[in-house]
Amino acid sequence: MTVRIAPSLLSADFSRLAAELAEVQEAGADLIHLDVMDAHFVPNLTFGPPVVRAIAPHCQVPLDAHLMVTEPDPLVPALAAAGVARVAVHVETCPHLHRSLAHIREHGMAPGVAINPATSLGLLDEALGFVEYVLVMSVNPGFGGQDFIPESLDKIRRLRRMDGADRLDIAVDGGVDPTTAGALVAAGATTLIAGSAIFGAPDRGRAISALRRAALEEMQR
Ligand code: DX5
Ligand code: ZN
Repeated sequence: MTVRIAPSLLSADFSRLAAELAEVQEAGADLIHLDVMDAHFVPNLTFGPPVVRAIAPHCQVPLDAHLMVTEPDPLVPALAAAGVARVAVHVETCPHLHRSLAHIREHGMAPGVAINPATSLGLLDEALGFVEYVLVMSVNPGFGGQDFIPESLDKIRRLRRMDGADRLDIAVDGGVDPTTAGALVAAGATTLIAGSAIFGAPDRGRAISALRRAALEEMQR
């Protein structure tokens, strides 16, 4: 098993995105996590396809889009054209989840489903066969720098044990730092998404190494 580190651009300095991207990629980032928000599904507004298109040439690692928007489907073609590798839609926003996931796959990207802290894993029962990954929110989506919700650990543990979940990447997003990373990996997380723990640190390289070390120590136990 390997654990991947995905810096979330939300906490980067938006006035110098190219430099920020270079720094975390040199430091060994495995994916770049992109938080697309619409000020409707979540109380914050970030960026969409035009910005993703602008930063894509600065990324050598796969782009990982997290759509916190009420209507994700219309964004999918433009994200695919921009070179995004995988896209997670929120189960809470998709009444026709199978269709939304198929739409992502038809555009050549890996589909994922994201789930809020208080949403039941039961809603994913019928969906796991159609996704490549589940993105477990360990804070309420919308902002970086929030406190990790400890109940997320048990949720990840239960998700990992669900039928059809053993082959999936489980990504965890929110409050991931070196103090939570080990327990998250032990619970079954395979991608650690971190915003403030990486971009809020003076040395991003050290921050990524600290996360990786915490994950590896847990895996070697
Ligand atoms: C929050 C976003 C996260 C955010 C995490 O809605 O989905 O990706 O950047 O930030 P931290 O790591 O600071 O909790
Ligand atoms: Zn995110």
